[in-house]
Amino acid sequence: MKETIWVLNGPNLNLLGEREPEIYGRETLIDVENSLREHAERLGVNVVFFQKNGEGELVTLIHEARISSQGILINPGAYSHYSLAIYDALKAVAIPKVEVHISQVIQREDYRKNLLTAGACNGLIAGFGTLGYNLGLSALVQLIRGGK
Ligand code: DQA
Repeated sequence: MKETIWVLNGPNLNLLGEREPEIYGRETLIDVENSLREHAERLGVNVVFFQKNGEGELVTLIHEARISSQGILINPGAYSHYSLAIYDALKAVAIPKVEVHISQVIQREDYRKNLLTAGACNGLIAGFGTLGYNLGLSALVQLIRGGK
């Protein structure tokens, strides 16, 4: 049976394409999802997409993902840097988790260098633009299929 991956995007990522394009590029979230859907097909997995601006909504989705998916690909946006609630939710869920950042966060403002939620994930991909989502999906599938 095909594995299912939940792809969770946090606050402001609904504005991809128009939001600070010099940092995040011109691709929209729909473009990212379409590219992930194609990549998922190549990998033989299902992908289900969510974007939420609220911290609590993301926490609830992380809880639900433990029942409805085999892995989480997450870009928590600004919550990555300080949300203990999202960190705790990710810690509480035993399935593999990969965090993605479009921008190279460690080259940016000091407050973006604190990557709190990534500490609750199996791995972190940052700085490859929207390609990072596809890289993250590949990594997640390998983790799910036996860590190869
Ligand atoms: C981001 C980086 C965060 O610092 C920022 O708040 C975002 C996007 C990224 O994908 O590069 O919203 O997560």
